[in-house]
Amino acid sequence: MAKTLLVTGGAGFIGANFVHYWLCQYPQDRVVVLDALTYAGNRANLDCVVGNAQLKFIQGDICDADLVEKLLREEGVDTLVHFAAESHVDRSILGPDAFIQTNIMGTYSLLKAAKKVWLDGASVKPHRFHHVSTDEVYGTLGPNDPAFTENTPYAPNSPYSASKAASDHLVRAYHHTYGLQVTTSNCSNNYGPFHFPEKLIPLVITNVLYNKNLPVYGDGLQIRDWLYVEDHARGIDLVLQKGAVGENYNIGGHNEWANIDIVKLIGKLLEAEFASDPRWAEKYPQAAAAMAGNTESLITYVKDRPGHDRRYAIDASKTGSELGYKPHESFETGIRKTVRWYLENDAWWRAVMDGSYKDWVAQQYS
Ligand code: NAD
Ligand code: TYD
Repeated sequence: MAKTLLVTGGAGFIGANFVHYWLCQYPQDRVVVLDALTYAGNRANLDCVVGNAQLKFIQGDICDADLVEKLLREEGVDTLVHFAAESHVDRSILGPDAFIQTNIMGTYSLLKAAKKVWLDGASVKPHRFHHVSTDEVYGTLGPNDPAFTENTPYAPNSPYSASKAASDHLVRAYHHTYGLQVTTSNCSNNYGPFHFPEKLIPLVITNVLYNKNLPVYGDGLQIRDWLYVEDHARGIDLVLQKGAVGENYNIGGHNEWANIDIVKLIGKLLEAEFASDPRWAEKYPQAAAAMAGNTESLITYVKDRPGHDRRYAIDASKTGSELGYKPHESFETGIRKTVRWYLENDAWWRAVMDGSYKDWVAQQYS
């Protein structure tokens, strides 16, 4: 049966990739995107599906419970997939307020509206509330610790991860107390198209292309477990189709990398792209010096992030054995695709980085 999804944060990095994936896999379903278009939200991220009659875009705040309630009722939503969040750890250190507001109060507002519409009427309506969370709620690992499982106790260390942990607990409580049909997924670091260039991988790609320094925090030996964004969408799909209500599912790709090695790898991939295709040197003349010599010369070690988690690693074996989850993309193929996407889509990231992004998008949609 066709579904109607409400996707919060669907104009952000992962949300937009999820919307592309969903409309392609399930063309009979309707998708309503609710997104406040903060600095990280970008209507252009939905351009390739913008003419699709199954997609509706609403600019609004998840903290507005009346708006959420209205959308759930008027659009006949049966499945809510909740991505909307403040998502950057460094910003959470500089200013936690927005993280508390959106990640905690915003999730609470969605839960309140969902309960009202789906549970509190004359009869309970068929529904699912899927909450998208992160492996960062589990805290940090030592070099030889086993990877995080769904039973690893929560130990968040940054205002970002603490606000995500709080939202996970609220989602759990709405299931246990009121019977809301919830699932939660905890995913490792994502990378891929439309990744906002304040995060490590797109920052490194775009900085090389501008011939700017590549800032590596501390000793650069912190480890992250990287997953191609479409594989995250695939994992959420499986949780929605086959996941047990009230359960948490880890999603990841068994792909641990030290930050410094990722930075060096991206440099090498860009050097190979420039060597094999003369279009790139024409398009990015500033990058020519680094490409001719050595992109590693751009690496600059900078002051470490306060409270920096040393290592994340996700054990997704429950999601594999119970739901049949397996990433499609290897890191080798995923990172190549990503580097190529940024080489080809400079209009997108230049606009984001030079601050004229909001004007650029306004022009596209005026
Ligand atoms: P993002 O910052 O790229 O996008 C967030 C989106 O939410 C933006 O479109 C923004 O406009 C929107 N938004 C923010 N506040 C809002 C509000 N109050 N109301 C409505 N919309 C609002 O984030 P992302 O990287 O796409 O992450 C999406 C989700 O996935 C988040 O919940 C994040 O915690 C989780 N997650 C991210 C990663 C990762 O590596 N990026 C990994 C695991 C989990
Ligand atoms: P980030 O992409 O911000 O994701 P998260 O903090 O959620 O894991 O950072 C990934 C890793 O890269 C993290 O260990 C911090 C590090 N990092 C740098 O070394 N330099 C940078 O400029 C950035 C943005 C991150």
